[in-house]
Amino acid sequence: MIPTIPDRVQSRVDRFSFGRVVGEWGGRHLLQGLPPGPDAILLDSNDYLGLAGDQRITEAMCTALAAGGGRFIPGAFVPGEHPQIIVERALADHMRAPAGILCQTGWDANVGLLQTIADPRTPVYVDSLAHLSMWHGAKVAGAPIHPFRHNFPGHLREEIRTYGPGVIAVDSIYSTNGSRAPLAQLCDLAEQTGSLLVVDETRSLGTDGPLGSGAVAALGLTERVPFRVASLSGALAGRAGFVAANGVDFVDYFRMESLPAAFSSALLPHDLAGIAAALAAVRTDDWRRERLVVVSDRVRQALTALGFELESAAGHIVALQAGPDLRAMAIRDFLEARGIFGSVLCPPATARHRTVVRLCLHAALSDTDVDRIIQACQEVRDTFGTVPPAPAPRTAPIPKQSAVQTGESTR
Ligand SMILES: Cc1ncc(COP(=O)(O)O)c(C=O)c1O
Repeated sequence: MIPTIPDRVQSRVDRFSFGRVVGEWGGRHLLQGLPPGPDAILLDSNDYLGLAGDQRITEAMCTALAAGGGRFIPGAFVPGEHPQIIVERALADHMRAPAGILCQTGWDANVGLLQTIADPRTPVYVDSLAHLSMWHGAKVAGAPIHPFRHNFPGHLREEIRTYGPGVIAVDSIYSTNGSRAPLAQLCDLAEQTGSLLVVDETRSLGTDGPLGSGAVAALGLTERVPFRVASLSGALAGRAGFVAANGVDFVDYFRMESLPAAFSSALLPHDLAGIAAALAAVRTDDWRRERLVVVSDRVRQALTALGFELESAAGHIVALQAGPDLRAMAIRDFLEARGIFGSVLCPPATARHRTVVRLCLHAALSDTDVDRIIQACQEVRDTFGTVPPAPAPRTAPIPKQSAVQTGESTR
């Protein structure tokens, strides 16, 4: 009998519930560990500067809520005098960009941007570890997608030589392993090939550059990167996304043509008030960035000395390579039993058998917290080792594969 559509949907649900949760994870959800206790150290949030719940932000949001008057309108109808326009200007100035547009989320920002700059004749070259929203935006645009090997401009150049100039999509700091994109080299390559570079600054906005203006600004590359995107759910402790554009006229075009911007309701006054207050705090509180560097350097140095292979020499995202999902679950449980709560990133966020336990460091960690994190990681090393086992060999011979397929392509 031919399965009905409801049957087919149910079989997909079953594939997840029974195939993945029961079959692969032994009946426990991989992403759901213990509830944290009162002395838990939470390293599962993107609040790198420790600003979530800051009084300046919550007061601004409460005042805006109490004032009422929010209009539930789609982004396309945001009028010229709307408070959103003022916050957009402030964010653009902060990132040293001529213009910018607020979006409902970072996901919407990336999807809307890729959708409005790529098309079926414009290939999109995506770093194999770039955030899934970039891939999805390219897909929505109907663009040919060509992944290139993570942080490997040589492979990107070959791909552009083969398929022609296009959009190059990278993250400044990669969410799954904390590595940094070689931004200056990517600017050179984009200019030499007539391509257009998009940098997702979600993990560097607020933490990098003068006053937290981001990684592109830190390297003096603002004029060479036409588009920067960021989720404000990182150091800005808010719930929104932002596209910084080097062309002022892009803003009106985007507001009308980007489907998530045009067809989803705009941010509300208390969201905007929170973002404005968070931006002011990010710019004022240099000490938070300084503390984050101290904490990150200490943890990285200690973990490297313990034998963990960390992808980048600096930065606040530390990923313990766990390998298969069940090993990641065991390491996560082990850390949680010691009060350390990171997050597990598994497929489709990572490649299969390359699940990681990620620790997002932040400025609010005390020296004692840092000692506890290092101690717990030492015990992980002593119990599990630092290198995940190699994946089981395949039975069938592997056909010749490209660097991306054999390397880190995740989707
Ligand atoms: C690099 C990157 N881009 C985009 C997003 C999506 O942002 P949002 O959660 O605001 O939708 C994330 C989310 O974590 C991210 O890490």
